[in-house]
Amino acid sequence: MTQTFEITAQGHPRLSRMRGIFAEQYRFSRDLVDRAAMAFGKPWADEAEETLQVLFSDDEALALAVKGYSAFALDSMRRQARFEKDLAYPAKTYEEAAREVYFNDDHMMGVYLPGLLLSHFLWPHHYRQLEFFDTAFVAPMRAAGGDRFVEVGVGTGLYSRRLLQALPGATGHGLDISPASQAYANRHLSAFGFGDRYQVHLRDVAEEAEASASWLVCVEVLEHLEDPVTFLQTLRRTLAPGGRAFITAALDAANADHIYLYRTSEQVQAHLEAAGFALEQAFLGAAYKPVRAGAPVPLAAAFVVL
Ligand SMILES: C[S@@+](CC[C@H](N)C(=O)[O-])C[C@H]1O[C@@H](n2cnc3c(N)ncnc32)[C@H](O)[C@@H]1O
Repeated sequence: MTQTFEITAQGHPRLSRMRGIFAEQYRFSRDLVDRAAMAFGKPWADEAEETLQVLFSDDEALALAVKGYSAFALDSMRRQARFEKDLAYPAKTYEEAAREVYFNDDHMMGVYLPGLLLSHFLWPHHYRQLEFFDTAFVAPMRAAGGDRFVEVGVGTGLYSRRLLQALPGATGHGLDISPASQAYANRHLSAFGFGDRYQVHLRDVAEEAEASASWLVCVEVLEHLEDPVTFLQTLRRTLAPGGRAFITAALDAANADHIYLYRTSEQVQAHLEAAGFALEQAFLGAAYKPVRAGAPVPLAAAFVVL
């Protein structure tokens, strides 16, 4: 649905500043803020503004985050152009991806994590996935009185933060292999005042997940692994009886650390079912319209499973 909503310096000062930085320095992204405002209206603008105010309150921090996002987006665009021709991700082992990305602190802090975080407000399929998370997972967790959750592959901490904001009585923790993700997510959650309700622990979840969890979140990790089904089986064993999991995968989306290629939502669903999960709800969103008929576009596929 297209709305008529405008970002102004008075109403949304940080968003307005971000739009200015794009216009001055990263012109390929100059329309993103206005396009998202038109598509998602005031609730989107208020949320994005809050994130920028809490995490990037001074101009230098905001400029660095926008710089990181821009490098992340440009790199994704270049890789996607190659993917459009090859219809395959370049061969890479998990170990290579981990070295290049998760254990590369400068890249994680300067490019990857700010890029991922801002993409959730600037890329329509990422924001729609957040909206789906709210209705399909957060609302049922609230209705069921859920008060503890675990996020696996916590990255920026955005999904965990959303749960803590929506459920004031809840506590949770995140697991991630990357010390940079651990530091970034902990800082994110503390800046929002949730430091005493949440902690991130370093863990390779492909080897060991969690003892038991009734509410489990795992966003954009499957496509980072060589063997997603074995990983999903571990998650399934982790889910307590009656529990629910929110699990997503990026499809047709080239990235430095995407090594398992999912092309359809059905392929992800088949992996979830092979691991013993039962599907409750599904979402599929596209990043943009294909540049020509049949050209692949990055997709976000999300599932609530039991
Ligand atoms: C695309 S990011 C996830 C995004 C995150 N959910 C968010 O919203 O920001 C992938 C994350 O998975 C983590 N990861 C990759 N392999 C992992 C593993 N074997 N165990 C734990 N975390 C892993 C990475 O360090 C990275 O933080």
